[in-house]
Amino acid sequence: MTSILVLNGPNLNLLGTRQPDVYGSVTLPDVEEMCETHGKSLGMKISCLQSNHEGVLIDAIHAAKGSHAGIVLNAGAFTHTSVALMDAIASVELPVVEVHLSNIHAREAFRHKSFIAPVALGQIAGFGATGYLLALDALSAHLGRGRGA
Ligand code: DQA
Repeated sequence: MTSILVLNGPNLNLLGTRQPDVYGSVTLPDVEEMCETHGKSLGMKISCLQSNHEGVLIDAIHAAKGSHAGIVLNAGAFTHTSVALMDAIASVELPVVEVHLSNIHAREAFRHKSFIAPVALGQIAGFGATGYLLALDALSAHLGRGRGA
């Protein structure tokens, strides 16, 4: 079965109560459960991790090489700042789909820049929690059903 890592960055542990007008009312456990259920229907085993710490996210990306076939990543605000996360993704050469609940391109100018986008397979933004499921669909199509780690 294809293993996929769903990785969430800073402040996403507060989903549900954090600016619900921007990010919606679903909680992180809701998102993770949705991913697990949808992943199962695609023949994927989903592992989930959230951290507020850049180094923990980098370690998780490194560890995914060899254990996971791809990553769904919402790097939160690190998206707009982290050369280190970009380098980590480039180093492991795993397909990464970048997800944002909100449409970062319709928000403040500082959110338009993504350090993840140049090293990602693609970016999904603005569809709320559904974006994570679309990202799994994209990885499934990219990897081919039943293949991968
Ligand atoms: C976010 C968008 C980022 O700009 C923000 O810093 C977040 C969440 C999103 O999912 O829309 O923390 O990644």
